[in-house]
Amino acid sequence: MVKTGVFIRIPLLISVPLSLNFPYMNRFAILLLAVVYGNLLFAQTNTDKKIGKSVDSLLKLMTLEEKIGQMNQYNGPWAATGPLTNDDNLLDQVKTGKVGSMLNVTGVKRTRELQELALQSRLKIPLLFGQDVIHGFRTIFPIPLGEAASWDLKAMEDGARVAATEASAAGVHWTFAPMVDIARDPRWGRVMEGAGEDTYLGSLIAKARVKGFQGTGFGDTSAVMACAKHFAAYGAAVGGRDYNSVDMSLRQLHETYLPPFKAAVEAGAATFMNSFNDINGIPATGNKYIQRDILKRDWKFKGFVVSDWGSIGEMINHGYSKDSKEAGMQAANAGSDMDMESRSYTKYLAELVKEGKVKMAVIDDAVRRILRKKFEMGLFTDPYKFSNEKREQTQWNNLQHRVVARDMAKKSIVLLKNEKQVLPISKQTGSIALIGPFVKAKSDHLGFWSYDWPDDSTRIVSLWEGVKAKVSPSTKMLYAKGCGITELDKTGFAEAVATARKADYVILTIGETRDMSGEAKSRSSIQLPGVQEELVKEIVALGKPTVVMISAGRPLVFNWTADHAPAILYTWWLGTEAGNAMADVLFGDYNPSGKLPMSFPRTEGQIPIYYNHYNTGRPAKNDSDRHYRSAYTDLSIYPKYAFGHGLSYSNFDYSDITLSAPSFTAAQSLTATVTLTNKSTRPGTETVQLYIRDITGSVVRPVKELKGFQQVYLKEGESKVISFTLTANDLRFYNDQLQYIYEPGEFKLFIGSSSDMVKEVGFELK
Ligand code: BGC
Repeated sequence: MVKTGVFIRIPLLISVPLSLNFPYMNRFAILLLAVVYGNLLFAQTNTDKKIGKSVDSLLKLMTLEEKIGQMNQYNGPWAATGPLTNDDNLLDQVKTGKVGSMLNVTGVKRTRELQELALQSRLKIPLLFGQDVIHGFRTIFPIPLGEAASWDLKAMEDGARVAATEASAAGVHWTFAPMVDIARDPRWGRVMEGAGEDTYLGSLIAKARVKGFQGTGFGDTSAVMACAKHFAAYGAAVGGRDYNSVDMSLRQLHETYLPPFKAAVEAGAATFMNSFNDINGIPATGNKYIQRDILKRDWKFKGFVVSDWGSIGEMINHGYSKDSKEAGMQAANAGSDMDMESRSYTKYLAELVKEGKVKMAVIDDAVRRILRKKFEMGLFTDPYKFSNEKREQTQWNNLQHRVVARDMAKKSIVLLKNEKQVLPISKQTGSIALIGPFVKAKSDHLGFWSYDWPDDSTRIVSLWEGVKAKVSPSTKMLYAKGCGITELDKTGFAEAVATARKADYVILTIGETRDMSGEAKSRSSIQLPGVQEELVKEIVALGKPTVVMISAGRPLVFNWTADHAPAILYTWWLGTEAGNAMADVLFGDYNPSGKLPMSFPRTEGQIPIYYNHYNTGRPAKNDSDRHYRSAYTDLSIYPKYAFGHGLSYSNFDYSDITLSAPSFTAAQSLTATVTLTNKSTRPGTETVQLYIRDITGSVVRPVKELKGFQQVYLKEGESKVISFTLTANDLRFYNDQLQYIYEPGEFKLFIGSSSDMVKEVGFELK
């Protein structure tokens, strides 16, 4: 999605974690804290009650049409992120209270103008402005999948905070993020928008992002409402084809796909968006089980649910609704509170209420939820509080935001391979050839779901610029593009080879264009596009010290490169600060620490491939053991790169695991300890990963499940003792009755640097 606009910035809010160290606090301090906390809770409950009363009083004044208006969301006339329906009288509808929210309207000027119209309506209910602020707004951050590779929750929270600060200063109240769909199929274009394949990691990231977007709470002008999407299981689309059906057991749904959504509720996400797919035959948008029973009843979600773009109307195509009226009825009754761009609610809800097909209580519940958020955001006190030109101007060029983006970007890069320590490159290198289509690229670093600004050419840092700022003045930089990203033309190869031949070192950049991964960007082949891998072959054949950098929105297949290039950095799409972050890693100013949040397949035929699969009755032990095994006869059983893989310029050594006891009971806990040593001459950060396996269960359990991780910084030669404490709660799973239980028995515990490089030990839960 490409957009234009005009914007701002806000000083970065640094959140100071309140760490409570009770043993060292005196009683008075504890008492004081209890009083303050009690008062805060009281104030919160009081505010909640007050808002509840205001919502109820307002609701009493509203006609049915005005209520339905609040449940209606339209796209603004300037940009669209879905198939647009044009309404000639859109502005009139806003003026007469027929619209509760708009999307794709940004900028103080536009939001103010539309808000002014909304305030001409009888009850003067302000509009909510929603926008896809997915990985930054003015300052673009790495794509969410790239950020997830950092495993750095604080950095992701800070990134979301910056995005919220910039977007809110441009009049945006509400971001349609985070996307928390678990995704195990890299053909699906939207893997770029999420946190990858793992439920545990995805849940923590969901929380971090919600916290970042919503900041210190609504009412603060830098807080935007978060929206956990797409509810639910959108990432499990059959064949990785966007919008496709999802068919899975309820156990799988609860265990793998729902937890990140639950985590978002626990973090206070203000809103949810439902999804385009059907789940076991019922479209998510008309799915009462997930929206009413799970989300609103079981999880006690107090916010509202917006449909996905046109997803109410699309239930007709699904073959679930006979027409738009029936779709409106099914969606409203199932708990979809707001209709994004289907126009079913605005056209038919009143009739449906009169016919008794949708109860007034359903409408009132939806409208209450929506109005509550408008009150919480402070829009009834000041409908223009987010439309402040001065703030917009201030935030437009907040340099601190770029510092946060660069930090996030360098942490997102994953070092896949580094033979003979080809990396890092010395800043004093005599000559470096930069080859490939991404060397001077700018907007391709932004990726899908990002914004184009008129001054992008000066703001986005290309690799060329990043390297130039890093190397010694005497280093000669040479350049040849070699080929395009998707084009088949090889006429540039000769120049590229000649250029590389002249240099002491080669940096070769390849990847996907920014719109090859994203919504509606599923690919059946996830090989490197065009002739890029052929270019790699020619350059690597020169035998020079060479690093290949891959910029992409998904795990790609690049076997030749993986097997022959001396060093590989996977850089995703890194955003505004791409070139600087790449140079930080290339030249060793930042020692890479990223770890893959998704398994990388060897070929598309291996998909879906994920580390936490079941064992099956005939598991292959290794690649020589494939006969009559659950394996392909013509392919390794292993992914090309495993979940959690990522190297460093340091060498980390793991001791064997020590357990506090060989067994424990549900009333006790178990501590697992390893000593981690940095056996290199460089300081670095390692992400120590803990996995478990439940050997025998009342339902089969995955061969490994991530249950914890710690990011540990070690100076050269330094050792640290790393401990993890587990309780029976960490061993829970959904049984065949959908009860979330733990079962006594034997387990394995693994600790290591990736899902395939671990030490292991057994323990028992008594
Ligand atoms: C996407 C959503 C997005 C919405 C509004 C839809 O097509 O699936 O993720 O938030 O459009 O742009």
